[in-house]
Amino acid sequence: MKITVIGAGNVGATCAQRIAEGDLADVVLVDIVEGLPQGKALDMVESAPVMGHSRSIIGTNGYDETEGSDIVVMTAGLARKPGMSRDDLLKKNAEIVQGAISEAHSKSPDAIFVMVTNPLDVMCEVAYRVVGGDSCKVFGMAGVLDSARFRSFIAMELDVAMEDVQAMVLGGHGDTMVPLPRFSTVSGVSIVHLLPEDRIEALVDRTRKGGAEIVGLLKTGSAYYAPAASTYQMVESIVKDKKRILPAAARLSGQYGLTDQYLGVPVKLGASGVENILELPLSDDELAELKKSAEHVRVNVEALG
Ligand code: APR
Repeated sequence: MKITVIGAGNVGATCAQRIAEGDLADVVLVDIVEGLPQGKALDMVESAPVMGHSRSIIGTNGYDETEGSDIVVMTAGLARKPGMSRDDLLKKNAEIVQGAISEAHSKSPDAIFVMVTNPLDVMCEVAYRVVGGDSCKVFGMAGVLDSARFRSFIAMELDVAMEDVQAMVLGGHGDTMVPLPRFSTVSGVSIVHLLPEDRIEALVDRTRKGGAEIVGLLKTGSAYYAPAASTYQMVESIVKDKKRILPAAARLSGQYGLTDQYLGVPVKLGASGVENILELPLSDDELAELKKSAEHVRVNVEALG
């Protein structure tokens, strides 16, 4: 297996490190800044004897070395600064995504593309328009991250093990995301039976603002440990054909009454990418929130022209 990670910044480099240390694949790290991907790749290679893996990690400013990649993870682009919304990144990141994905696709026409660059749902559409063909091979990481944030807040609130908490956050990766308390559980028990309504609402609100909370603390960039870990989990499910059920930005074709647009929904992730999109039995209110989120994504896609 060979995985290209485009963008050797915080998310990309952390993701490359996880992939190599997790012994998932050989990694090619691409960035436009001369020396940055080469330096970080060499630094990671020098940590391999200590960490105990023999994966090749190559840093480059071009795409020749990416040829024949099985998976391309796209993290290149601008990250948020305090006061910026993910949507503020729209036009600049669309240009970056279009250029980088077309170069990567020309070298690896059969690759699966995992998008991370924000605003995520719109960037998935930009990449899909470049790659074309089967939309099950172009999708985005955000639902795993948003759900991980919700899971960690639930676990901290109830003082229970993180690993026993599952959560489902659907919709666009932004202020309109749709955390679903009914489908969020502690060892199978929905949190609606474990927490009062006002506490659930507070955790939902913190989840929606989870990215901004980190940006506010870091001041010079946005989150990357949890985004990289979430991307790793998706890549692992593809590489090992685990067929995990994870929320991801997938292109809908009628599910939830929505067509031809990307949105965070539960999917089955395996060797061929998105192998199935699951339709949860949502209440009228939950569905209305999801559609509102879809509309926000649609407006941003239209703004790109
Ligand atoms: N080709 C390759 N790399 C590029 C390009 C390009 N055309 N344009 C920018 N880059 C690189 C930058 O040089 C930088 O090293 O993308 C990297 C981005 O890294 P960071 O600024 O550290 O940003 P990061 O925190 O990794 O976030 C990247 O992921 O979570 C999202 O919102 C976040 O869209 C952002 C992306």
